[in-house]
Amino acid sequence: NNYVAIMAGGIGSRFWPESRTHLPKQFLDLLGTGRSLIQWTYNRFKHICPKENIYFITNEQYIGTLKSQIPEVDDANIIAEPSRKNTAPCAAYFAHKIMALNPNANIIMSPADHLIMDEHAFERTAHDALDFVAHHKCLLTLGIKPTRPDTGYGYIQYDTEEELDKAHRVRTFTEKPTLELAQTFLKSGDFLWNSGIFVWNVQTIMEALAQHMPEMHEVFSQATNQYNTPAEYEAMVKLYPHCTNISIDYGIMEKARNVYVIPSYFGWCDLGTWESAYDNAQKDYLGNAVLGSNVMVIDASECMIKMPEDKLLVVQGLEKFIVIDTPDVLMICERSREQQIKEYVAEVKRNK
Ligand code: GDD
Ligand code: MG
Repeated sequence: NNYVAIMAGGIGSRFWPESRTHLPKQFLDLLGTGRSLIQWTYNRFKHICPKENIYFITNEQYIGTLKSQIPEVDDANIIAEPSRKNTAPCAAYFAHKIMALNPNANIIMSPADHLIMDEHAFERTAHDALDFVAHHKCLLTLGIKPTRPDTGYGYIQYDTEEELDKAHRVRTFTEKPTLELAQTFLKSGDFLWNSGIFVWNVQTIMEALAQHMPEMHEVFSQATNQYNTPAEYEAMVKLYPHCTNISIDYGIMEKARNVYVIPSYFGWCDLGTWESAYDNAQKDYLGNAVLGSNVMVIDASECMIKMPEDKLLVVQGLEKFIVIDTPDVLMICERSREQQIKEYVAEVKRNK
């Protein structure tokens, strides 16, 4: 009864120039591990449910890349979206599709682009979560102990005292708060970060959709006879333009009352930026994270460097820089200024 949907349609512009609209972060091997993030994600879930029950939901544009990176995936398990509408439509689409297959399904909706260090701990938590939603009518998320007031995450305030099968009732859910709020949350001690990994029974999410996003629920109801048939994609081409562009976090989690969280400890990291890739990469004794075997580093320190295998880089004296080379773009930027990469990308696009 267990199903997984790996959401893989985002763009990841903060990893520019490595991450591009045509090849976003989930398809990259940002840490030089030999596997892309989506390949890691898929392998992780293969230990949790049979591969027939693992689905990918992504933009139609990425299907080719997805198939080349994970050749064993069956066409029936690839769900193509005709346009980018963020993650709430993913949740609604998948719920409706699986409802038509198995009305008792328990579902994990997972991002494709996270790093998880302790695969065994993850597996155990995933099973606990699936068990929990099979027995309780709730929307469950996996929570992470926060370490800094990062404004890119959802914040979950939970009932620290009361515990029910490892899960706790959620009091409030605040997606991407302001810095001031994030600082307050961090200090108060009863907040977790939302990992973005959601777990629910198909009937529970259908009820939540009907209650909190009735228009979107209605849109996906119109295709009830087309799900899991050859007419499915054409139906979505017609329906997607009528979907609001909104994430699961804003569309459902902030509004729902029956939310639970399992505080989780599996070495989670949303490789959100080069800085987090730097944090998680292996470093030399001067603190340089060097990806690429043809790099000569002389007196440089605390740099994040990524070079293609067929190009030699010699760098001397550089301190706290990001150096990223790709076939058509070379970027050299101070590590402390990486929040501005998004602006550089916008500027480049304007000048094209
Ligand atoms: N299929 C599909 N279609 N997938 C999408 C789309 C879309 O339109 N938009 C985003 N995704 C995928 C991304 O590829 C990623 O794997 C996942 O959905 C989450 O989207 P992000 O855009 O990365 O979300 P976020 O990082 O800003 O915020 C979410 O994750 C945080 C943790 O990393 C939220 O759930 C936060 O609350 C959470 O803290
Ligand atoms: Mg993300």
